[in-house]
Amino acid sequence: MSTKTAWIEQEIAGLKEQGLFTRIRTIETAQGAHIKVDGKDVLNFCSNDYLGLANHPRLREAAQKAVNEYGVGPAAVRTIAGTMRLHLKLEERLAAFKKAEAAITFQSGFCANLATIPALVGKGDVIFSDELNHASIIDGCRLSRAEVVRYAHNNPDDLRKKIVETTDYNHRLIVTDGVFSMDGDIAPLPALAEVANEHGIILMVDDAHGEGVLGTGGRGIVDHFDLHGQVDIEVGTMSKAFGAVGGVVAGDKTIIDWLRQRGRPFLFSSAMTIPDVAACLEAVDILEGSTELVDRLWSNAEYFKRAMQALGFDTGHTQTPIVPVMLGEAPLAQQFSKALFEAGVFAMAIGYPTVPQGKARIRVMNSAGHTRADLDRALAAFKQVGETLGVI
Ligand SMILES: Cc1ncc(COP(=O)(O)O)c(C=O)c1O
Repeated sequence: MSTKTAWIEQEIAGLKEQGLFTRIRTIETAQGAHIKVDGKDVLNFCSNDYLGLANHPRLREAAQKAVNEYGVGPAAVRTIAGTMRLHLKLEERLAAFKKAEAAITFQSGFCANLATIPALVGKGDVIFSDELNHASIIDGCRLSRAEVVRYAHNNPDDLRKKIVETTDYNHRLIVTDGVFSMDGDIAPLPALAEVANEHGIILMVDDAHGEGVLGTGGRGIVDHFDLHGQVDIEVGTMSKAFGAVGGVVAGDKTIIDWLRQRGRPFLFSSAMTIPDVAACLEAVDILEGSTELVDRLWSNAEYFKRAMQALGFDTGHTQTPIVPVMLGEAPLAQQFSKALFEAGVFAMAIGYPTVPQGKARIRVMNSAGHTRADLDRALAAFKQVGETLGVI
């Protein structure tokens, strides 16, 4: 062991002792309900492929066709030579799909947050941020160097109080996750929009887990609450329900124009890749063509949640297809996940720092790609493991 890295070895040993060391599993097949992981055929209840689009024949074909025509890489950042007609087409289609004034794409949802927050606020400004916001929002806030005031989770009254108490600022921003990725609960966006408009503050929602899930045909959280025109910025990702990789910001045209000038990942990191853009365009086509996949996702999720609750599991406050199975201590969650895997169900344990200490869980991700038989098999595995480990 080098003396330079001795402290890292110690940290890793500590993580292993506390059951917080993440053992990264390897997927050996395409994404889907049935996959091979570390040599074992398992049912997948763990990925964000909400609609089963990651390996959909139409997306594969669209990506292949685009690669044949345009090649693989964009070869530049968007502001130099990386803006291809396909990127603009996707942005137009996403804006129309989301009924927004305009849209801009980024390489990922993470990049979209890193681009947007520092473009809107900086030193001398203040951000009001939900205390459970995603890491990419937290990092975007840190990069901006604005003061961050955290308000109580999903609590518009606390937000209002914090706004009134904070008097020293130049510009202000309110930011929240749309669907909270570890709990599956939904931000009270109508009430947040009311507070934001009352005080004339820009409102930004990160709808990574609502994109393709919430709203008519998966149009997202703004559509879900019918708040078109009342939320300034809706960040989304195409790395989950859309089955590809990419980030999007939709909303007020002035803000989108500004992000083309000041969103640093847009200016200093190469554009979305061609197969991703083509696959996302196809995903928009599929979603605009039918609500069937979104409907199936929700009916699967309702079936699974109801059965888990009937078995006696604590599924937290979820309102979406994300189902946290609350277990408490991290070693128990890891043991649970390992036993599920042995029973043929892949669902990872999530512990600190992704969720608070003592709130470890298995996070189950439902998908339109699951059949009722898949759901029943998973439920039987949860029952067996839950009983063996004394959880139910
Ligand atoms: C709320 C939220 N924002 C952003 C991201 C990042 O999205 P992407 O995977 O496209 O970078 C995630 C993904 O985990 C997320 O849950």
